[in-house]
Amino acid sequence: MLAITFILLALPTFTLSFSTSAKKIALITGGNKGIGKEIARRIGTEPDFTAIIASRNVDLARAAADELIADGQTEGCECDVIALPVPLDLLEPKSISNAVDFVEKEYGVVDVLVNNAAICFNDPTLYGKVDHTPFEKQAGITIQTNYFGTLQVTQSCMPLLKKSASPRIINIASAAGRLTILRSQSLVDTFTSDTLTIPHLSDLMKQFVSDVEDGSHSTKGWPNTCYGVSKLGIIAMTRILARENPNMMINSVDPGYCKTDQNNNQGVVDPVDGAYTPYLLALMDQGEEEDDEVVSGLHFYEEAEIPWSYQ
Ligand SMILES: NC(=O)c1ccc[n+]([C@@H]2O[C@H](COP(=O)([O-])OP(=O)(O)OC[C@H]3O[C@@H](n4cnc5c(N)ncnc54)[C@H](OP(=O)(O)O)[C@@H]3O)[C@@H](O)[C@H]2O)c1
Repeated sequence: MLAITFILLALPTFTLSFSTSAKKIALITGGNKGIGKEIARRIGTEPDFTAIIASRNVDLARAAADELIADGQTEGCECDVIALPVPLDLLEPKSISNAVDFVEKEYGVVDVLVNNAAICFNDPTLYGKVDHTPFEKQAGITIQTNYFGTLQVTQSCMPLLKKSASPRIINIASAAGRLTILRSQSLVDTFTSDTLTIPHLSDLMKQFVSDVEDGSHSTKGWPNTCYGVSKLGIIAMTRILARENPNMMINSVDPGYCKTDQNNNQGVVDPVDGAYTPYLLALMDQGEEEDDEVVSGLHFYEEAEIPWSYQ
């Protein structure tokens, strides 16, 4: 098991070999609130980073950036955070390409991409405050937003990440996406295969949606959680992209059950703490030597690597 805290002991030397006059650019999707906002706060407070908050609502992004800047001034630690002035909506492919084009024109590089934005249909029996969406209608929206939207952001940012001296992608996943939600060994074998590709994974995600829509998903070994399958897809995507891009640090994180709007504030972890492991992954040393092993393709929880098969 790899604990990030140990790697951070090497921090005094980290990235110095890559140092340039420009600050590093971290792009955080869904950074206007919740865990994403706290990731932006943490990264933006690092002297060599500028954090860019992307949101589907530019006014909310602006308000969050203003808040983080003001908090930094109050606390005496400058927070370099910028609101992306164009929307990034995971359900709007054009908005994703516009947003990434804007980042390219303004900054020319993305050093850290934090794929944080996501939706989760709250269970009305748990929280009693949200409209009920039938399960068969949740699947398409959830997979399109959390899996395909995130995939498009990632693929669009790849050319900009490749311009970074130490590129990294941090995918915010969830315990809901653990491997043990699958009820068929054949699906487990497929998802964990070292030869799984993004097109095949995308086909699996589409298959889940159609199986939910025609009512056959349970008999085919899928679980009764659209959010869980979308996050399972994010973890599988992380592993594939890490394999295909050996010079990048691409990892997923379970931030814990945080008190945010996503769960109607029923969570028990402060989002400030949920943001800590993603922040460590943004900062950690990639290794000094060319043949140092890159920490990539792993799933993290509370500052340490955790097996995908956790309960
Ligand atoms: N909270 C938890 O206990 C928990 C546990 C495990 C994993 N996570 C994951 O942590 C991440 C952050 O969640 P959170 O708890 O901070 O939830 P949150 O407060 O509800 O924030 C979710 C963010 O995603 C954005 N978003 C939703 N749909 C979007 C879309 N179509 N396009 C662009 N942005 C969209 C939201 O934008 P709007 O403000 O416009 O809605 C918001 O900025 C998510 O990936 C979530 O799945 C959370």
